Amino acid sequence: ALAALKIPGVERYYHFDEVDSTNRFAKEVSNAVVFSESQSSGRGRLGRRWESERGGVYMSLSLNMTIPVSEIPKVTLLSGLAVCRALEDYGARIKWPNDVLVGGKKVSGILSEFVGEEMAAKVVVGIGVNVRNRVPDALRDRAISLHEVDENVRITEIFTRICEQLSNLLSAFPQKWGEILEEWKRLSDTIGREVRVSLYGEEVVGKAVDVDADGGLIVVSGEGRRKVISGECFYTNY
Ligand code: BTN
Repeated sequence: ALAALKIPGVERYYHFDEVDSTNRFAKEVSNAVVFSESQSSGRGRLGRRWESERGGVYMSLSLNMTIPVSEIPKVTLLSGLAVCRALEDYGARIKWPNDVLVGGKKVSGILSEFVGEEMAAKVVVGIGVNVRNRVPDALRDRAISLHEVDENVRITEIFTRICEQLSNLLSAFPQKWGEILEEWKRLSDTIGREVRVSLYGEEVVGKAVDVDADGGLIVVSGEGRRKVISGECFYTNY
């Protein structure tokens, strides 16, 4: 709780044994961190479900921010970097836009949402991390839980580290966005790879060469240079 309350702008901390979704709850409160031991209907990106057995970190940050809506992807990227820093000991890397990988497998996902319009948005960043929970067999080739690489890993310690890094990065945002983005790129697992990015049926295929100042992925192919602002990214050069 203490680490959560040190995040700039955070005034309240909610701790649940179980909740439907910390993101759903976080949208109803302001300037808060919401943590739950488990979720009965955890949400993933693109309308998916997020497995939320006891043993993982399920948290959401709800902040009233006076930033244009176009800046929200930056907050998402920043949050991915916070998780990546928190998992530095495990050699974590970031897959665009916001999956965190350990040993090439997904260990954490981020779902950011916003309520409101124009300048006065409430930003909700939901972070799920597999810590001591078991990854379902069907996902074992793509997903990992931290206890598989560190049998002593503790849920509260991972939560505390993420809060500390969110504090550090949010204190530097937006002034030091340039530096934040540079660090994000150094930890990126995506830049330099052949990718296929799909968003609602549309596909962009090519080489991921950069992430631009507002967090869009730059993909180069025979047809030229394209920028994708969101979507699902697959690596095609395995
Ligand atoms: C993804 O699809 O990769 C994003 C997963 C985000 C899951 C987290 S768990 C805490 C928060 N509450 C939710 O319902 N979802 C996010």
